[in-house]
Amino acid sequence: MRILRRRGWEIPERDATPEHLVTNRRALMAAAGAGAMLSTQAQAQWLFRRDQGATDPWARNPADLPDLPPAMRNARYQPGRAMSPEREPITFNNFYEFGTDKGIWPQALRMPMRPWTVRVDGMVEQPGEFGVDDLIRRIGIEERVYRLRCVEAWAMTVPWTGFQLSKLLEIVRPLGSAKYVRFETAQHRESMSGLRQSWYPWPHIEGCTIEEAANELTFMPVGLFGRPLPPQNGGPFRVVFPWKYGFKSGKSVTRITLTDQRPKSFWETLQGNEYGFWANVNPEVAHPRWSQATERLIGTNERVPTRLFNGYGEFVAGLYTNLQSERLWA
Ligand code: MTE
Repeated sequence: MRILRRRGWEIPERDATPEHLVTNRRALMAAAGAGAMLSTQAQAQWLFRRDQGATDPWARNPADLPDLPPAMRNARYQPGRAMSPEREPITFNNFYEFGTDKGIWPQALRMPMRPWTVRVDGMVEQPGEFGVDDLIRRIGIEERVYRLRCVEAWAMTVPWTGFQLSKLLEIVRPLGSAKYVRFETAQHRESMSGLRQSWYPWPHIEGCTIEEAANELTFMPVGLFGRPLPPQNGGPFRVVFPWKYGFKSGKSVTRITLTDQRPKSFWETLQGNEYGFWANVNPEVAHPRWSQATERLIGTNERVPTRLFNGYGEFVAGLYTNLQSERLWA
């Protein structure tokens, strides 16, 4: 995401210790503890590949990120577009915790994926800490092919595997006083070198209204292209709002809080005039620094017209009928 960088006090990237030279103790321990599942040779190969500069963006320690159960594709959500070529979405990412360029996947692969829990708290009847594998078993998963439109005017079409956020809300039972949902991204200091850049408002926070959270499109992916969701795409557990600009779709979520206060998001705190709370896709409302009329499809570089609500108006337009005074498109 193009943001106005404050100059003067930041440490240039080249002065930081290259992350691949730092031993990731937790991943080593996780791999060691997985001896029953992984042969010693397989562990050694995986650790070698990761530490010597990964060449496979799908690389994972099977003990740290187990296979997903089979998931049926839900035919209700037709993308109307070709799927993005698989390598693009997993190697071209925005994940500022790992750095500001698009090629952060080798660093992201160093983040341990298990154990992973999400705390659901705030204005709910049944707060709790849920293991991501328990949620997968309890709720079940399905595949949905969604378009994702980044505010930077690129777009992708990918099959996510996961469950509707509303299913998790049914478990915790929001109180009538809850008006908003806040999503917090994990902070894993050993792998996320971006967290050292103290001028960013960490942790990464995103938010939506309770009505948006309960909408059928709001999805919690745990997988991508039929495999466990890789860390560079927000594994093992993220949120996706396909009708909003992609920055609303917080990655690697570790806490979900129901609240009566509108959450102030990471991007809103940085540059509220460019990245607001609602951020619904609209081709007619330009970003202050570029047009949103068209978008570039990653993988083919084809340019296509942007669609209102990213083409999902039939599902979500009704959420905004009484909100015309709000800045719905930024
Ligand atoms: N979540 C966190 N925690 N940190 C980020 O930097 N970037 C956002 C969003 N979620 C971001 C994040 C932006 S700008 C986009 S476009 C999408 O993630 C990109 O998701 P993708 O890499 O899976 O395409």
